[in-house]
Amino acid sequence: MTPKTFKIKSFGCQMNVYDGERMSELLSRQGMRAAAESENADLVVLNTCHIREKAAEKAYSDVGRLKREDGSKPLIALAGCVAQAEGAEARRRSQMIDIVVGPQAYHRLPEMVAEASRGGRPVDTAMPAISKFDALPPRRRAAPSAFLTVQEGCDKFCTYCVVPYTRGAEISRAWDDVVAEAHALVDAGAREIVLLGQNVNAWADDRRGLADLIRALARIDGLERIRYTTSHPADMTDALVAAHGEVGKLMPYLHLPVQSGSNRILKAMNRSHTTETYLRVLDKMRAARPDIALSGDFIVGFPGETEEDFEATLQIVDEVRYASAYSFKYSARPGTPAAIMEDQIPQELMDERLRRLQERINGHRLAFNRSKVGCDTQVLIERKGKLPGQMIGRSPWLQSVHVETTAEPGDIVGVTLVAAGPNSMSGAVRQQVAA
Ligand code: 5AD
Ligand code: SF4
Repeated sequence: MTPKTFKIKSFGCQMNVYDGERMSELLSRQGMRAAAESENADLVVLNTCHIREKAAEKAYSDVGRLKREDGSKPLIALAGCVAQAEGAEARRRSQMIDIVVGPQAYHRLPEMVAEASRGGRPVDTAMPAISKFDALPPRRRAAPSAFLTVQEGCDKFCTYCVVPYTRGAEISRAWDDVVAEAHALVDAGAREIVLLGQNVNAWADDRRGLADLIRALARIDGLERIRYTTSHPADMTDALVAAHGEVGKLMPYLHLPVQSGSNRILKAMNRSHTTETYLRVLDKMRAARPDIALSGDFIVGFPGETEEDFEATLQIVDEVRYASAYSFKYSARPGTPAAIMEDQIPQELMDERLRRLQERINGHRLAFNRSKVGCDTQVLIERKGKLPGQMIGRSPWLQSVHVETTAEPGDIVGVTLVAAGPNSMSGAVRQQVAA
């Protein structure tokens, strides 16, 4: 039977959120409706993440939980990076899975659903030369802050990371294609666009780079804010740094993962930068845009990490004074070079290091938030808060801001930041800037 309703559950990174939106648009175009919950959906798409531990096991247990009390089940599609990594093996491991579709093949989802409805069990984890983007329908709906994938894949091969294997080689979408999608998103209600890529700052079309693209997008009327994520330190060009000083719509926020503060570990990670080259990039960035909020990613417990290496990580956190940062325990990913390195670090030690690192990061985040108290700024309203009359939006520095206002999602309001917490700010409305 052909499904009439669907539910897409996305896990992991922002690119999966973007892919989930695109799959939803595809299925809607087929006449299917989005269901609120997976329990009563005819088709459930699990858009999975493979970056850390037990990702595949988690996906299979999520699949198992889709069995209903009466023994029936929805049509199940395994999508995302676990689907890519497991391929046809997924169907052998779980009889419940009807469709396996990788991140570069999901434009084929409608025909795969049709095949599965006829009793087939299609698998597509190809990475075709033809871009899936050409086969996707135009954007019709957009949140106030919308994602736009401009670059996918990675050629860096950090020794701990599965991304080069699950998302494939680094590719950039064409200039015209990206600009057209940006226009469509703005027409559909987006006020902010977040450009996405595993190495977004490596985006290029001929001799044009991300800085040129940002300058062009900044000319779109109705688009008020531009962000981009995630960047690699080695691809941080002077042109991009300069754009931060010159393009008003480019928000003062940079997510630039360093992963470790120890050059010995960075080398073992194959990161192609040192702490010195990383800090030099940040110095330039601060010179171009003094109020820039800096963010990063860290891995603790990479094989061979000593107490001294770890302390170097704490040191770089103190030196940069991150406005926010993400930290993870190293997770051995099958097939990556680091997984077979000697001197894997015991869990308890990783737990302890993660706790110490997060304590340090939280301190800097609170200090950053406090430094903004009293600041007059603008907040892009995104959604309702828990309290009556309360709305939640984002400051230019990506802080979550709670405001009492009659403004609607998509409005930009002038706000004075009046109080700081570890995870959010309170703001008081000054005046409405734009409706
Ligand atoms: N173990 C732990 N963290 C990882 N990351 C990537 N691969 C691993 C892994 N095997 C982290 C990195 C990266 C972020 C998206 O996830 O910090 O920047
Ligand atoms: Fe993974 Fe490194 Fe590529 Fe980032 S740069 S996606 S961490 S291999």
